[in-house]
Amino acid sequence: MSADGFSSGPPPGAAADWTIDQGWENYSQAEHDVWITLYERQAALLPGRACDEFLRGLDALDLHRSGIPDFRRINDELQRLTGWSVVAVPGLVPDDVFFDHLANRRFPAGQFIRRPDQLDYLQEPDIFHDVFGHVPMLTDPVFADYMQAYGRGGQRALGLGRLANLARLYWYTVEFGLMETPQGLRIYGAGIVSSRTESIFALDDPSPNRIGFELERVMRTPYRIDDFQQVYFVIPSIQTLQAVTLRDFGPLYDGLAGASDLGIAEITSADRVITAGTQAYAKTGGRL
Ligand code: PHE
Ligand code: FE
Repeated sequence: MSADGFSSGPPPGAAADWTIDQGWENYSQAEHDVWITLYERQAALLPGRACDEFLRGLDALDLHRSGIPDFRRINDELQRLTGWSVVAVPGLVPDDVFFDHLANRRFPAGQFIRRPDQLDYLQEPDIFHDVFGHVPMLTDPVFADYMQAYGRGGQRALGLGRLANLARLYWYTVEFGLMETPQGLRIYGAGIVSSRTESIFALDDPSPNRIGFELERVMRTPYRIDDFQQVYFVIPSIQTLQAVTLRDFGPLYDGLAGASDLGIAEITSADRVITAGTQAYAKTGGRL
């Protein structure tokens, strides 16, 4: 996403809405092999860690086969299930373009795949993060509606100058959300399920805080883009997430304009604390 939120225009070769052809025929066998390696690692790790909605979506789309999925094939099934589709883009797109796609039930996905020496971490979203991480949840009808509503909400927040607050909602739900189920904590965030190390850290490590999701609280909490999260927010269900985000955010934004941010690892007296993390990982310097 760009700094000012509005696009100047698509790069050469891209359409006005920044989409490009996936060029599926052009992936090399080495690139397909990266997908297969990542897929097999996560498929083995995620049962009992990812939520049922994610695992069901993964099965329904059959994203494995012989390598990097062809968007044309995914879209047949995704369209039928929830009316969503995946479109290829060159990389991060401007905020207004991104929101317009979501508001029209299109998910913009990176077309490139990480190199074999980046299996565990890269900062920019590649096709494995975007497709393996995000698309299975889009097969769930309630989550599919939430993502479209987020796109509309994004357009509105951009106009109101409150995008910094709304982006935190996306970060702590769509990207790094956890869910509390009768079987225990489960992952639904794409940034977690697409990462082997964070799929373990987010659930098992004593370092991060795990706190019951509360909309305004989340919007006041900064996040980090360069390492494991220091706090995860836990929803009871996708239905609940959808229900609490239905309300008009206008008054909420007004209140936030005067409120200060919380510390990233702060715990407040109003929090429902599931884990009061040690923060040992961050304190010892994390990835650095
Ligand atoms: N209800 C929000 C608003 O009034 C829109 C929204 C819905 C934002 C769902 C995020 C997720 O702006
Ligand atoms: Fe993502």
